Formats: sequence, C-alpha cells, structure tokens
Amino acid sequence: MDGNGRWARRRLLPRAAGHRAGVEVLKPVLEAAGEAGVETLTLYAFSTENWARPTEEVDTLMRLFLETAKERVPELGERGVRIRFVGRREKLPEEIQSSMREAEELTAENGKLDVYIALNYGGRSEIVDATRRMISAGLDPEDVDEATFSKYLYAPEVPEMDLVIRTSGELRVSNFLLWQIAYAELYVTDTLWPDFSKEEFTKAVESFASRSRRRGGV
Ligand code: IPE
Ligand code: MG
Repeated sequence: MDGNGRWARRRLLPRAAGHRAGVEVLKPVLEAAGEAGVETLTLYAFSTENWARPTEEVDTLMRLFLETAKERVPELGERGVRIRFVGRREKLPEEIQSSMREAEELTAENGKLDVYIALNYGGRSEIVDATRRMISAGLDPEDVDEATFSKYLYAPEVPEMDLVIRTSGELRVSNFLLWQIAYAELYVTDTLWPDFSKEEFTKAVESFASRSRRRGGV
C-alpha cells in the first residue's frame, strides 16, 4: 500500500492526510477481493524499516491503526473476514498488541476471506525468526527442507502466494513476504494507494488470470 505520502504532497496536505485517505481504500478492495473469490489477502501496513520515519509519522500510523481497528473490525467480522497479523508483534506498543489480539479473537471463526495484516513486518526478519524457532525446536539439519522451513513462518497455514500488487509504480519488493513470493506474479500500477480502487483490484486479478505460469517448466 504505497504512495500515501505522494498523494498528500500533490494536494499540499500533510502526509497524515494521505495515510487517512489510504484507510478508505480498504473497504472497496476487500469487497473486490471477496467478489473475485480471493481466499487470502495480505496487506503490508508497516514494515520493520518504517521505524526510521520521523516519530510524529510513526505515531500517526499507530494511532490510525488503533482507530481503524476500533471502527472497522466489527463490520469486517460481520462480513466473514478473518483477521490475522504477521510480523514482530512483541516490538509493537502494548496497546496495539491488545487491539491485534482482539481483532483476531473476534474474527477467528470466520472463513469467507482471510486477511493478513503485515505490521512491523519484514521478509528477512521472518526468515530469521523462522530459523531461530527451528533451532530452538532442536531440528536435525538433515530434516530441514523447504516444506519444513515453511512450517516455521509467521503464517504457515497460508497457501502458495499467487499475486503481488504494488501501487505507486515502484519496481521493487521492499522486504515483502520474501519466501512466499518465489513464484508469485507481479502487478505494478502507477496509481497511488489512496487512488486505488475496486476496479483496479479487479484489473490486477484479471491480468493474473490471463498469465501462463510455468514455474521453471516449459
Ligand atoms: C504508505 O505510503 C506506506 C506506509 C508505510 C503506511 P508512503 O507513506 O510510503 O507513501 P510515499 O512513498 O511517501 O508516497
Ligand atoms: Mg513509500
């Protein structure tokens, strides 16, 4: 979900206004995902690198998260969305952690659409954390293969990832789900996240559907 800052700058607004506008896109996008039959969607909300932003902006993002969770989680729950989080949650403020737990508990029984929110998430941290857990579990190196490794990721239950959508035109992965995107299709749009829409999500899914995935075969 990239481009909130640029969206605000073009309007001579503070960056916080861009982040607020970005929140409004969540509802239509989740609707489009449900209609397209998507089963799992991961939203990259805050990366392990985002702590490097000015304290004021980090605070704004955290407050916005709390506010959004409070206002929107009950409705998402009613619509059958199951919310889970990936990332180093123990490093987040306690208030945020309890709001995350609440959202997970409230929506735990849902099954229409699994929404993962990547919060204080980094692809490299995830691989490091998985390795630490494997070592703590006392695994024999001989028993470590790709399938075993996958079981130690933050969300081992998530099936193979199909499509990555990146907004605001950047042609990079930025530490997002490094292990999981090995064979994912990429869709990059110049649209800034606050301008992203249901129509554009559908377009991305259609682009995915028209591709031929060979996975190293012919
Ligand atoms: C949102 O966009 C990403 C978050 C960390 C919430 P940015 O804040 O990175 O927007 P740009 O890249 O400055 O336009
Ligand atoms: Mg950015």
